[in-house]
Amino acid sequence: MPNPRVLTGIKPTGVPHLGNYLGAIQPAIELAKTHDSFLFIADLHALTTFQKREQLIEDTYAVAAAWIAHGLDPEKVVFYRQSDVPEIPMLAWVLGCVLNKGLLERAHSYKDALANKGLTEEEVNMGLFSYPVLMAADILAFDTDVVPVGKDQQQHVEICREAARKLNLAYGDVLKVPVARIDEKVMTIPGLDGRKMSKSYDNTIKVLGTSEKDLQKKMVGKIICDSTELGQPLSTESSTVAQLYALFADQTKNDLFLRRAHAGRIDPDDASSEAFGWGTAKKELFDLLLERFRRDRAEYDRLMADRGHIDQLLQKGAERARAVASTILARVLTATGIRPL
Ligand code: TRP
Repeated sequence: MPNPRVLTGIKPTGVPHLGNYLGAIQPAIELAKTHDSFLFIADLHALTTFQKREQLIEDTYAVAAAWIAHGLDPEKVVFYRQSDVPEIPMLAWVLGCVLNKGLLERAHSYKDALANKGLTEEEVNMGLFSYPVLMAADILAFDTDVVPVGKDQQQHVEICREAARKLNLAYGDVLKVPVARIDEKVMTIPGLDGRKMSKSYDNTIKVLGTSEKDLQKKMVGKIICDSTELGQPLSTESSTVAQLYALFADQTKNDLFLRRAHAGRIDPDDASSEAFGWGTAKKELFDLLLERFRRDRAEYDRLMADRGHIDQLLQKGAERARAVASTILARVLTATGIRPL
């Protein structure tokens, strides 16, 4: 039996932060060890919200370089740009013809645009409206078994399943119906201000593409701490510094960190040793991050300095992706009475 196939799309939103790393990148790399894994940069989806062309290009490279730098093996995982696989938008057209407008009107992506982004029906673009149709094609073009997604994307996978079922009902068994895998225990990583780390809160720590100085001063240094006096015991319970430290340190290191913090001293057993305040704690966190990500940081810089190489890797991935998608699209087109490409 071949391993089950997993597929995930990543929107090109720029250099991933630590929340993305722990919540998405690391789990996907882990999953790739036991699955036949497809991963792509959803640049066509990115077009649904307008941005400057330079931004899209830059963000796409940054995402690709970051995933590889963090350990994604492009030989093992099929890693590609969505736009390099024209079978996907072509399949999306066919799927759009079996999905009902009423169902898409109830999709989160669209309802959000109306409710939260304050757009009117006149203003919402058709790309945004049919976002779930393209997403269904992303998934169905590869006979995907499992789609690991956050809760916010569950409905989109449901729409994808509906598209596959309806197409199968109309034309015979042509598409595999995938299942969503919802990670219930999604880690929430605290950001600089203690709220969930998120690009939209502008409270992120980015270990890639950031100079040591900026990582120390503009990121770790900006983590909000309480105003415990220097030399007094630090309360680590709801401290962002301590939470982040625990996420990246091994047990021994973390135990020592906590003992120092709770003693308020560098040497927890020596009350006359130097004070251990939030400043020192942050320096420890900074050193920990540098050490943990030293290799990844160097690899990211190396890749970003050689975009031709990133292009090559992604294009190789696209070739492998197209080999699969073209067969499946041909199956679908043939079933509908359209001559395959
Ligand atoms: N919509 C997903 C997100 O916002 C990205 C995505 C696009 C995706 N196509 C996909 C995820 C296919 C899983 C499968 O995060």
